[in-house]
This record gives sequence, structure tokens and C-alpha cells, in this order.
Amino acid sequence: MAKIVGIYNNKGGVGKTTLTLFLSDFLSSIPIDGRRSRVLVIDFDPQSSCANALLGIEKVSALKGQKLTLPHALKSQLDRWAQDKEPVNLGDYIATRTESPSVKTRKTKLGSLDVIISEAEAALDFEESTTLEDSLYLAAWVKEGLSARYDFIFIDLPGNLSKRNGFALVGAFLADYFLIPTEPNRININAIPLTMKMLRNIRAWRGSRNDFKLLGFVLNKADRRTKQYKLHKDALMQFANMADCKIYSSILPPTPKLSNATDDSIEYFTLSDRYEAYYDHVRNIVAEVVQDLGFSVNKRTRRTTPNKSVSAGQG
Ligand SMILES: Nc1ncnc2c1ncn2[C@@H]1O[C@H](COP(=O)(O)OP(=O)(O)OP(=O)(O)O)[C@@H](O)[C@H]1O
Ligand SMILES: [Mg+2]
Repeated sequence: MAKIVGIYNNKGGVGKTTLTLFLSDFLSSIPIDGRRSRVLVIDFDPQSSCANALLGIEKVSALKGQKLTLPHALKSQLDRWAQDKEPVNLGDYIATRTESPSVKTRKTKLGSLDVIISEAEAALDFEESTTLEDSLYLAAWVKEGLSARYDFIFIDLPGNLSKRNGFALVGAFLADYFLIPTEPNRININAIPLTMKMLRNIRAWRGSRNDFKLLGFVLNKADRRTKQYKLHKDALMQFANMADCKIYSSILPPTPKLSNATDDSIEYFTLSDRYEAYYDHVRNIVAEVVQDLGFSVNKRTRRTTPNKSVSAGQG
């Protein structure tokens, strides 16, 4: 059964999409316990930023043109269900990024992974005609259809998860675990209560038999040496204590390099080409998350040639 992880914060621009990209890129490329993971990304973001970075903008546009997007699939499934027809084949809506066989390199190549994309207008149409119960039903249907086919499913969520956001709610109802990327500054600290409130609502709507685990806060654009970090880390600790979750010890420092890494017009073939000097930061947070999901990985960083486990290797 897949580990299904939702990446969420009510605040925009904090690194939800970036963290989704990191997790999916690394886990699809570096073996864990000697085995390549099967990874799926479900992109609930109307801007499709994560899907664009993974698949390239042309492929994403083509999928949208063919209506091979998640809101189309969900709407169609609801109609079929109401009419007692054969269920939708979700496989038709999955796009694959394949490892590039023609590139000769000793570096770790970006691995094969699957993506399901969103589309803003179809998502809006979906929301105008559906209920909370529909979202709950569809989340269970997607999980039943996909969970056995993957090791990890990452869900990039948009900020709003109110009752009116029935499309994004499907993603929030799917996740078994949540990660909250945040930045240690005043604006972000002020946004945390609403994020926690949204997650409490999700918990209540899902019901106790369908609960999720909040893994913790991932500090993005953070630097432990700054006054700002020192000033706000205690407030963050309080939120973590209240929610009974942790703050990840690996942090993601600010870097202008990331605008390259997430740019959908640049084609990357290896992990180290995409992440360059940022590689170790990404690797460390991925290793820590994976450990919380039940895999034993060594968090130590080595810069030697790649080998079998997520614990080693500069791509
Ligand atoms: N550590 C970092 N250093 C520098 N830039 C970063 C860092 N993390 C993310 N960014 C940049 O910040 C911007 C916002 O990040 P991202 O899109 O991941 O946020 P988001 O939470 O998904 O936003 P939205 O709410 O719009 O979906 C992007 O341009 C991204 O490249
Ligand atoms: Mg985003």
C-alpha cells in the first residue's frame, strides 16, 4: 500500500510545490532498501507548477487539451457511478516521466515517475456541482484504484481547503500523512492558525475511522543563524507541540538556484544537474521524511558515487 503524503499550508508561496518536487524527484531516482520506488504525484494546484516541472509544459498542455486531467476523471466517475456504468479507468489519466535511456552519465538519472495533473476550469466546474460526500467518495475511489500500484503518492495541495473547494478536498481526503512547509518569519507564523484550522476541519469531515497523521513542519527559506529564525522558532515549537507533530531538523535554506530547479522550460536528466549545490539539503529532508514513513535510512551525507540507498550518494 502506498504511503500517501499531502503537502499543505494555507499560505501561498511557502514551498508546497517545491517540496513535492523534491520528494518525488529523489524517491523516484534513488533506491530505498535496494529497490526503486514507484512514485505518483497528484497535482491539485490549478497552475500545475509541479506537473510542469516534472513533465514539461508541452506535455501538460497536451494532456489538458485532451481533457486527461483529474477533475475530468472525477466528474466522469461521478456521472458513471450515478448511472451504474463501468467505472472510469484512472490509468488513462496518468502521464509518465521516464528516465532518459539515451543520456550517458555516471550521475544519478532522474527516475521514472507518474503524474496526474489538474486543470483550473474543469476543477471549478467540478466544484459547482458536487458535495462534500462526493469528495469523500471520490477520495476513497482514487485510493482504492491507485494505492496498491505505488510506494509513494505525493499530493501537492492549493491553499484553500474550505467546503467550497470540493476538488482540492479530494486530495486532502486522500492523504494519510501531511507535511507543512513554512518559513520562520512573522507573516508565516501568523498564517499557521488558519492552516491548523483547515486541517482540523479535514479531520472532522473525514471521521475518526479515516484519520491522518500530521508529520510536521518543514522549514523552508530558513537560516538558523538569522535573528528572524531565533525569534520565531519558539512560536513554531508551540504550534508543533499543540498539534503533536515535529519540526524537521533538516531545513531548506533560501537559494536563488531554486528558480532554475523548478523552471519547466529547462530539461534536466540527473538529480545533481537539477539541484547542484542544493543537493544535500534536499537529500537530507527527503531522508528524514522517508524515515518517518517507516523506512530505515541513514541521514548522513556522503558525496561519493551513487549506490543503493537513499542514505548515500551525490547524484
Ligand atoms: N528555499 C527556497 N529558496 C528560494 N526560493 C524558493 C525556496 N523554496 C521555494 N522557492 C521559490 O518560491 C516560490 C514559491 O514556491 P512554491 O511554488 O513551491 O510555493 P507554494 O507553496 O507551492 O505556492 P502556491 O501556494 O502558489 O502553490 C517559487 O518560485 C520557488 O522556486
Ligand atoms: Mg504550489
